[in-house]
Amino acid sequence: MRAVVTTPRSGGQLLAELMSAVRTDNEDVRRPPRPARDGAPRLLRGRKLPAPVRVRAGHPAEPASLGLDEVLERRRSERFFTGEGVDLEVLTEALASAVDADADLWPAPEEWATRPLLVVAALRVRGLSPGIYRFDAPTSTYALLAEVDRDAVAQMVLQVEYADAPVIVAAVGSPADAVHSRGDHGLRLLHLRAGSACYAALLAASRRGLTGSVFAGFLPSGLRHHVVADGYHLSQVFAVALGRVAAYPETPPV
Ligand SMILES: Cc1cc2nc3c(=O)[nH]c(=O)nc-3n(C[C@H](O)[C@H](O)[C@H](O)COP(=O)(O)O)c2cc1C
Repeated sequence: MRAVVTTPRSGGQLLAELMSAVRTDNEDVRRPPRPARDGAPRLLRGRKLPAPVRVRAGHPAEPASLGLDEVLERRRSERFFTGEGVDLEVLTEALASAVDADADLWPAPEEWATRPLLVVAALRVRGLSPGIYRFDAPTSTYALLAEVDRDAVAQMVLQVEYADAPVIVAAVGSPADAVHSRGDHGLRLLHLRAGSACYAALLAASRRGLTGSVFAGFLPSGLRHHVVADGYHLSQVFAVALGRVAAYPETPPV
């Protein structure tokens, strides 16, 4: 093993060096994205999957009952849910909202490499058997990638209460593609877009009376049993758990 010799630095110097290393500079941000290396779908690259079972879903017939203002006034993060399931149409609307928000904010088709994909761990979604699904917005379909139960999801999360969420929506992406396309700035974009997608899904679901919490999401060690996710070519970036709470308690659960 090669010895690494470092010059002793003060805490302040080290912090200044770290901050300079992660600084977004204009050159990095303005550099145009590079084109894709190949056209293979990143989620499944190199992986042999059985033909995915696809479930097609519509949107809710009724308009949402809560306006965005009301949602913002009432909202707070919740991570302990009732056992009630979530309607597939409501989930689909929330996911479509995430995809639409992303397309509004980052419309350029050349931003292919930092676009988050949406993967759903559905344990109690009416109309979906328990499993991990990839959501395809243009066709409003869910492709089953793996069957999972509550115990399997519990292996995939650090905070076990999230395994009791009816559904977890995870934004996944490829750090490898992001950095290939946009340099260091690509990683920032991937995280920004994943965060924006998860919050858009949470707000849309909240207009239907659901609630939830954004969180760090799936552990790489758990997720890679079910989906190709080596943390570099494909990585889970951010997630949101969705469900219902009986009522907002006076004292939030800790
Ligand atoms: C980037 C980010 C990561 C988070 N990660 C977690 C997490 O791993 N576990 C968790 O329970 N909550 C997580 N949260 C949720 C926060 O704990 C929650 O939003 C915060 O307590 C604020 O509460 P509020 O949303 O009710 O205002 C995360 C929030 C953000 C913005």
